[in-house]
Amino acid sequence: MATIKRIGVLTGGGDCPGLNAVIRAVTKTAMNEHKLEVYGVQDGFLGLIQNRMHLLQWNDVSNILTQGGTILGTSNQANPQRFAIERGGKTEWCNVTDRVLDHVRDNELDALVCIGGDGTMTGASNLVENGINCIGVPKTIDNDLEGCERTFGFDTAVHTAAECFDKIHTTAMSHHRVMVVEVMGRNAGWLALHTGVASGADIILIPEIPYDIDAICEVLRRRSKGGKRFSIVCVSEGAKPKGGDVVVQRRVETSPDPVRLGGIANKLVADIEERTKLDCRATVLGHIQRGGSPTPADRVLATQFGYHALDILMKGARGQLVVQQGGRLGEVPIQSVAGKQRKVPPDDPLVRTALAVGTSFGV
Ligand code: F6P
Repeated sequence: MATIKRIGVLTGGGDCPGLNAVIRAVTKTAMNEHKLEVYGVQDGFLGLIQNRMHLLQWNDVSNILTQGGTILGTSNQANPQRFAIERGGKTEWCNVTDRVLDHVRDNELDALVCIGGDGTMTGASNLVENGINCIGVPKTIDNDLEGCERTFGFDTAVHTAAECFDKIHTTAMSHHRVMVVEVMGRNAGWLALHTGVASGADIILIPEIPYDIDAICEVLRRRSKGGKRFSIVCVSEGAKPKGGDVVVQRRVETSPDPVRLGGIANKLVADIEERTKLDCRATVLGHIQRGGSPTPADRVLATQFGYHALDILMKGARGQLVVQQGGRLGEVPIQSVAGKQRKVPPDDPLVRTALAVGTSFGV
C-alpha cells in the first residue's frame, strides 16, 4: 500500500452549507489521527489546473464548523477534460488533465479528497483513471448523487426553503392568492418534494412526474369553490408539463452541465391565471437555498463524511465515494456514480405519503 504523507482537499461545483464542516473534519482527522499534511486547493478543479493550493494549519480550520460557503472557494466551471482557453479572441476547449497531474506530482500530494456533486465526481473519476487516488465526499442541496441516499447540504436547503414557504403562506392567506414558489434541485425533485411536504404545499410539481396544467387548475378551482381562498404550489425548477420540456434560464458553456434551469414558476402563473382567472404570484427562491449556516443534522453528517473519507483512505481505499445508505456510512467506486443522477422514484414512500394527505402532483 502506498504511504500517504500529504493530501489535498478541494470543494467543487455549486456550494452548499456544510462544506466547511467537511474541510474541518478532513483536516483535523488527517493532522490529529494520521499526522498528515493537508493542502487546501483553491476554487475546486480550477485551483488544480492553475496550481493554487496551500498548506492548511489547524487554526485555518478552527471555528468554521457552523460557517456557510467554503473557505477554499469553489467553481462549477472548471472541467480539466474540457477547459476553456481564450486564444486570439476565440474560445478553445482543451484537455488539461496533464497539467493537473503535474501539479499533483509537483506538490507531492499522495491523494485528493474531492468534496462535490456529480460534476466533481466525473472530474475525480478522470483523475482516478490517470492514476491519482481520489476519495469523494458527496455534497449538494439537490440530493441527487447516485448511490447516496443523503448528501450534506440538503437538510439545510429544505430548512431554508420551508422557512420561506411559511412566510409565503401568511401573505397568500391575506390576499387570497395562488402562490407558485420555485425551488432548485436541477433534474431531481428531492428538494421540492421534501420542502413541499414540510410546508403543507397543496400541489408539488417535480421533474419525475410531468404535470397536466388542466389537472392543476382543477385542484385550484376546487379549493377556491370549497372555501379555501388561497393555494400554495411548490414547483421544482426542473418540472415540466406532460409532453413538454423544462424552462431553461441560461446556458453556461464552460460548465460540465451547461444548462441552468429557472423560470417555470412564471410560466405556471401565466398558464394558471389565463385558465382560472385566480390571482397568482410567482416567487423564485434561488441561491438563498445554498446559503447560510448548516443545520445540526448537516454538521453531523458532514463531520462523519469527512472522518470516514480519511478512515477509508488510510485503510487503503482508492477511487471511492463516501456514501450514506440505509442510514449507515459506506463507500462505492467513484467511477460507478460519475455522470449519473439519482431521481425521485414516482412511487417513492414520500410521494405516496403526500398523496395520502391530499397533496396533488398535478396529474
Ligand atoms: O446543483 C446545485 C444547484 O444549486 C442546482 O440546484 C441549480 O440548478 C444550480 O446549482 C444553479 O447553478 P449556478 O449556481 O451556476 O446558478
